[in-house]
This record gives sequence, structure tokens and C-alpha cells, in this order.
Amino acid sequence: MTESRGQWSGKLGFILAATGSAIGLGNLWKFPYITHENNGGAFVLVYIACIVLVGGPIMMAEILIGRKTQLSPVGAFRVMSLGKPGGKLWQGVGFLGVLAGFTILSYYSVVAGWTIHYTWLALSGQLAELATNPEVLGTYFGSEFLADGTQQVSYHVLFMCLTIGAVFFGVKGGIERVAKVLMPILFAILIGLVIYSSQTSGFGEALRFLFQPDFSTLTKGAVLEALGHAFFTLSLGMGAMLTYGSYIGRDISVPRAAMQISLLDTLIALMACVIMFSIINTSDIEVAKSATILFTTIPTVLIKLPGADILNAVFYLLIGFAALTSTISLLEVVSSYAIDELGWSRRRATLTMGSVITVFGVLNALSLGGNDALTSINLIGRESTAGVFGTMDYLASNWFLPVGGFLIAIFTGWLLSPKLTRTELEDGHGLMKSFTGWLFLIRFLAPLAVGAIIVSVILGKEYQ
Ligand code: PHE
Repeated sequence: MTESRGQWSGKLGFILAATGSAIGLGNLWKFPYITHENNGGAFVLVYIACIVLVGGPIMMAEILIGRKTQLSPVGAFRVMSLGKPGGKLWQGVGFLGVLAGFTILSYYSVVAGWTIHYTWLALSGQLAELATNPEVLGTYFGSEFLADGTQQVSYHVLFMCLTIGAVFFGVKGGIERVAKVLMPILFAILIGLVIYSSQTSGFGEALRFLFQPDFSTLTKGAVLEALGHAFFTLSLGMGAMLTYGSYIGRDISVPRAAMQISLLDTLIALMACVIMFSIINTSDIEVAKSATILFTTIPTVLIKLPGADILNAVFYLLIGFAALTSTISLLEVVSSYAIDELGWSRRRATLTMGSVITVFGVLNALSLGGNDALTSINLIGRESTAGVFGTMDYLASNWFLPVGGFLIAIFTGWLLSPKLTRTELEDGHGLMKSFTGWLFLIRFLAPLAVGAIIVSVILGKEYQ
């Protein structure tokens, strides 16, 4: 059984792969954007609180269930719910995760594909030309690139092929191997860019913006947005961490792993902010109030700095690498369902599921052109925006992930006995003094907080 499912080679492989899943477009694209929109400082603190108090505990719950059952989400909930109220119905949480993986991957890979195009634009010198004028670049991105169906579909398919390629070769031979190569490069590029940005004149202002909280600017909407983002950025609520946790042995500490992954994820999100705000502050360019600044504003600023072409290329390569280790985990959730539940071989599962998602994703890739393209793109948007892309994103980030996370918290906190969860958290870890604290968070705070997101979605309240 273990042999056909696969296992990480050890702790490092697991941590790098799981961190790779967590770090993605959420950190490098979405987080700087919403931090800017929500006025920095206080928002950053609230976000960190959400990671520590809600995200971390739920991540522990997911990894714990995965390690205990050694199964992907559907099977894991079936086994764990035996004899519990609701019984097999809990499998639904697993199915919801598979659905979320399918949905998110189908549009995430479209955006990820843009990074390939932009890397190429930078290396061929074309980006430098386009970026001399922010308006020209904006028009190029919105009206030309996004509206060009052939290019949108091609890059999406290309990115899906890379993803399928990695998952095809299995847990150790594919997923872990890619993470072990890409994650250190990603860290190195980020550290290099932070050093680079520390030499710019906007560095000090960026740090003040990020770390000097002014609570008078904090809105209720910002708190919910921070919470929702904490979920997405840690890859929670859909069984990605559960699935990755099903490939570890009992010698690995669940609380420690969850802490390390969350810490790295937060660190990288903050580094991305430092880099982007330093660069933006250094120029006098007005930052577009659009989620697309990464593809419109940033190059126009980077272009003014020494070594612009290389800098731009490295920047987009970084985002592409981060996105790839995330798309891999999304596909793994869907594939592992077919492997565990339908008895398919890994190759068959990966190729079939990967192809179906690729074909479905074409709808997303083709739904982006048009006049409102720039405003309608909003990764993990709180409102449903037009088009298939907007609808998929709305469904996943407002429904699938929060509902999944809510049910995981309830299940782990209330249906599993504290005796069992304690044993699971302490095996491989040693005595856990903060167990009662975790139990409190998973029983009360996490469901309440995530419940608030769901309620606000139902009531149709804007996150503003
Ligand atoms: N955590 C990833 C990011 O921040 C996105 C993701 C969500 C990946 C859910 C897997 C599962 O970009």
C-alpha cells in the first residue's frame, strides 16, 4: 500500500514540498496587493494573528488526519468518521477538496502561465520597450495579451504540462524532487531581491508602511480579507496539506511541521511586500488599484533600475517557480483521489485528471479578454466577477475553502477525541504543553472565525 502511494524521503522533502504548496501567487501577487489596499501595518498584524490563531491550528488538523490515515482526503474522512455522528457523510469534505483542487487549478494555471510569457518578454527585450510607458503596458496586457486566446490557451497548457510532468513521477521522484530544486532557488532569488531593494531609496518607507501599524485605518472588511487570505496562502481547507501529510511517517512532528511551513510562508509574503513596495516607492508611478499591478505597474518601475531586463526576467521566473510548486499540490489532491479511491495507477491518474483539468481550464483562459479585463481579474476575489475565471475563483475562495476549513475544524475539534488528537500531535513531537490551547483554537476560534467568512458571503456583505 505504502509503496504504491509513495512517501517523502524524509522531513526535509515534506517541509519543502508543503512550503512549496503554500508559497505561490497568493504570497507574491495577492498579499502585496491586498496589503497595499488595506494600508499596511495594522493589516499585516491582523494577518499574522490569523495565521497563528486560525491557519496554524487548522494546518495541524489536516496534517494530523493525513498522517494518521495515510490516505487522501476522501478515504481519510471515511476511515476517521467510522462510528461517528454523520458517518460516511464526512467523506463529503474530501470530495469538496477534490472539487476545490480541480477548480482552483483550472484558473491558477492560466495566471501562472503569464509568468512564462513575461519571462520571455523580459529576456527578449520586448518588456523594456513596452514598459517605458505604463499606459502602453497596461493596454498591451489587457487588450492584447489577455484577449489573445491562442496565447492564453498555449501558456496555460504549457504550465499544466509542467505540473502533470512533476506529479506523474510520484511523491519522491517528482513532487519532492522539483521542490528540492526550486525552493532553494526561490529563497535565494528572494533574498537577492530583498538585498537589492534595500539599496533603493524607497526601502525605509516600505518598512514603515509594513511594520508601523495604524489601527485607525483598519476596517472590518480588512479583518475578514486577512482571514480568507490566511486560508488560501496556507493551502488550507481543501486537503492539500492533508494529502501531503499522508506521505509522512509517525516520526515527524505535526505541530513543528505546521509551524515551520506557516512561518516560511509568512516570511516570504512579507519579503515580497518589502521588495515590491521598495521598488514602487522608489519611483513616482501611481500604483494601479488593480490586482494586475504585478503585470502592469511593476515592470514599468523595474525598468528604471540597473539591469532591468535580467531583473524583470528573474522576477517573473521567481513567481513562476512559486506557482509551479502550488499547482503540483493542487493536482496531487485530485490525482491521489483517483489513486486511492478508484485504484488507478499514478500515471493514469495524473494524465487523465491533468488532461481533464487542462481542457476545463481552457474556458478560463478564454474568458479574460475584453474592456473590463484589468478590473475583472482578482485572484481570491471576494466578489464574483464576470466570466468563467471570476466565477471559478469566487466559488473556490468564498465557498469551497471556507466550508472545507470549517468542517475540518469541527471534525477534528469535536468528533475526534482529544485523546486521539493528543496522541497524534505528540507522536514524533514529545509532550505538547500547548495542546489545550490548540484544542481551544480548533474547537472555538477557528470555526467561529471561518464561520464569519461564510456568513458574510451568505449575507452578501462586501469586504470593505
Ligand atoms: N497556497 C497557494 C498560494 O498561496 C495556493 C493554493 C491554495 C495551493 C490551495 C494549493 C491549495 O498561492
